[in-house]
Amino acid sequence: MPANDDTAPLRITSLHPALGARVEGLTLSPDLAPGTVDAIRAAMDRYAVLIFPGQAQLDDEAQLGFGRLFGTVEETPSLVDQSRRRLPQNQINDISNLGVDGKILPADDRRRMFNLGNLLWHSDSSFKPTPASYSMLHARVIPPEGGETEFADMRAAWDALPDARKATLRDLVTEHSLIFSRALLGFEEFTPEERERCTPVPQRLVRRHPGSGRMSLYLSSHIGGIQGWQTPEAMALLRDLTEFATQSRFVYRHHWAVGDLVVWDNRCTMHRGRPYADKTYPRDMRRVTLMDVAPTLAQAA
Ligand code: OGA
Ligand code: MN
Repeated sequence: MPANDDTAPLRITSLHPALGARVEGLTLSPDLAPGTVDAIRAAMDRYAVLIFPGQAQLDDEAQLGFGRLFGTVEETPSLVDQSRRRLPQNQINDISNLGVDGKILPADDRRRMFNLGNLLWHSDSSFKPTPASYSMLHARVIPPEGGETEFADMRAAWDALPDARKATLRDLVTEHSLIFSRALLGFEEFTPEERERCTPVPQRLVRRHPGSGRMSLYLSSHIGGIQGWQTPEAMALLRDLTEFATQSRFVYRHHWAVGDLVVWDNRCTMHRGRPYADKTYPRDMRRVTLMDVAPTLAQAA
């Protein structure tokens, strides 16, 4: 294992045969030594999901500062109801069931309907021309049960595909939009401006993960079609591939504790939230998201 600047190696425990590891004995902050940042990056390239338990010291600013050590932080204005945003800082993504008053959102609130899209397998910001690389999610308040997050390894899934299948998939280009993932849940009431902001963007279906050199599927519930294909044919293929790629042998399930910071690489994983009693219990999670360096079509295949 690589060592940090204090020559203490990161204490890493693998959590699943395909992906995910726990890193202990490290207090995260914006002031980590460059050697520690490199060691975390190397562990990310290998495990794709890292759990850092006991990071209750991170407030929004420190979480942001830690994120900036690894790249450019995305601006994430809310797509729906930006004016009723709970967290003022656009670089902190509010992954909670709370409104501006800090109270649980009413069952029929549009923001709640929209947030339910996180229960579908996806890769963060795959609907943006330059999508996300790392996401960093911090648990501030968690419900007594449920609300786990699952991660699926898209490199292992790619590796497990038969060669003939790989050949048909390798050069395909998909179209991603938030409208497509929300439509899967029957959420279709977008204003004309919201629709305008959701113009589909093209992404490769198969990409090379730069840090590991491994090929990866790039799937997401935000996909609504494949360029040059009839939509039903494309969606049937994508559904089949998603089922294949999210078998338990490729999936690690994280049970949250308050203070956990989980970092995942959206370039080679998908994730989804699991249900919880969100009309009863608060769940307050905050996400800092990094931008990849280029649109997937501009990256080496
Ligand atoms: C996210 C996300 C799922 C969850 O933060 O990007 O999809 O379990 N979260 O909250
Ligand atoms: Mn997400």
